[in-house]
Amino acid sequence: MSSRGNFSGRIGFILTAAGSAVGLGNIWKFPYLAGQNGGAVFLFIYLICVFLLCYPVMVGEISIGRRAGLDAYGSYTKLGGRRWGLLGLFGIMVGIFILSFYNVVAGWAFGYFLHISFGDLLNQTDFSSFFGLFVNDLLDLSSAEGLANSNFIFSMVFMAMTAFIVARGIQSGIEASNKIMMPILYLILIGIIVYALTLPNAISGVKFYLIPDFAELKIQTLFEGLKQAFFSLSLGMGTLMTYGSYLKKTENIPSSVAVISVADTSVAFLAGLMIFPLVHFLQFKLQVTEVATAGPPLIFIVLPQIFHEMGPLLGRIVGGLFFLLVCFAALTSTISLLEVPVAYLVDQKKMSRKKVSWAIALLIFILGLPIMASQGMIPALNKLAFYKGQDYLVFVADMCDISLTVGGCLMCIFITRRWKIHNMHDELEIGNPGYKNSFLKKYLSVTIQYVCPVLLGILSILIIIDKFFGIDRIFN
Ligand code: TRP
Repeated sequence: MSSRGNFSGRIGFILTAAGSAVGLGNIWKFPYLAGQNGGAVFLFIYLICVFLLCYPVMVGEISIGRRAGLDAYGSYTKLGGRRWGLLGLFGIMVGIFILSFYNVVAGWAFGYFLHISFGDLLNQTDFSSFFGLFVNDLLDLSSAEGLANSNFIFSMVFMAMTAFIVARGIQSGIEASNKIMMPILYLILIGIIVYALTLPNAISGVKFYLIPDFAELKIQTLFEGLKQAFFSLSLGMGTLMTYGSYLKKTENIPSSVAVISVADTSVAFLAGLMIFPLVHFLQFKLQVTEVATAGPPLIFIVLPQIFHEMGPLLGRIVGGLFFLLVCFAALTSTISLLEVPVAYLVDQKKMSRKKVSWAIALLIFILGLPIMASQGMIPALNKLAFYKGQDYLVFVADMCDISLTVGGCLMCIFITRRWKIHNMHDELEIGNPGYKNSFLKKYLSVTIQYVCPVLLGILSILIIIDKFFGIDRIFN
């Protein structure tokens, strides 16, 4: 193996790739999307996207990375020439933007973890206004305590943890940290689910989550499901390509990808099974029929209120563990995002991993400043005139979402037209003797050459139309 570093083996790779996949997308976004889009109907659409579109794209991405043994730009350039290298660069840019907003939200979760475990956050009476003040508390220089409680510091520390791990390299930094955090994450998740299911009214939450409501089925449900699946599986911008480049030739890619997809999907599913019983417990406590669960409020406003209802000690324990879970999920993802530009500079410019990790982390942290300020501090960023009055965070996140499906579509075109599918098959046969005559080989041939590029292309265009003009207005 080269001096670039590599994963120690199958378990290390799978846990690390699953760590990238499992993140805020699973724990924070999936449950509220499912809640808004008809519960099990959304889950069903999501699963179809995973099978039909995400699985082949993930196999493709990892094979490209392992064949080339380089960063995203280097991989496309080596297998396809300089022009295709631009697609790698595009992915690296998208990753930088994803991390710039992702780290801000991770910083909020980190702040909540500290405030709940060691402070008095749960003594609030109005969690909604608390959250509003919290996200706008960027930098309070009036006292040492104020400074330590600033969002600026929370997200800076979160980015520093990310840089610290990435700087240590693949095996002793990235893989080692995932091997610790991922098992703990699963344990906490299962623990909270078991506890939540014992609470009053929990079953009504499970029903709400699992009984499909077909009235909610709209074309947008499909868009949301697809975007969410791509984001949740970390596809479309080169994260898994980069991780694949550190994978040994003896590992079986298709079966690893199956495990990673199942791991990610199960965490998303379980997160809903943790959150809806809690939400319905709250409805029971407050004697209301509905609490708003859309968007960020779900984990930063509704859940703290639930932990508050549990009483001081239990609330602190369950709430603290919940936000620790969110922090671990986020950290294993921020690591994978930072690794993409770091690998690029290490491979292409021969720079030192240590220096590059810290320098890029700082750059991305700075890119995150307007995102922090967009939560109310700077009104122009809080209500973007050209984007239906939504804030800059939402805008950046939406643009990244779109770039992922477009990136996935272009990757399939790259495999089909430039690299050629038989080269991908050759790569997949290594470490997998039965592949040659398998059904899987036919499935991947059809999906990567036809189904994925066509569907991803059409859907990406529809998603863009919907974002900027609203598809209902055009087709109704
Ligand atoms: N998948 C992660 C989540 O669900 C986020 C993430 C990490 C990501 N790396 C990525 C998203 C690369 C897109 C592309 O939270």
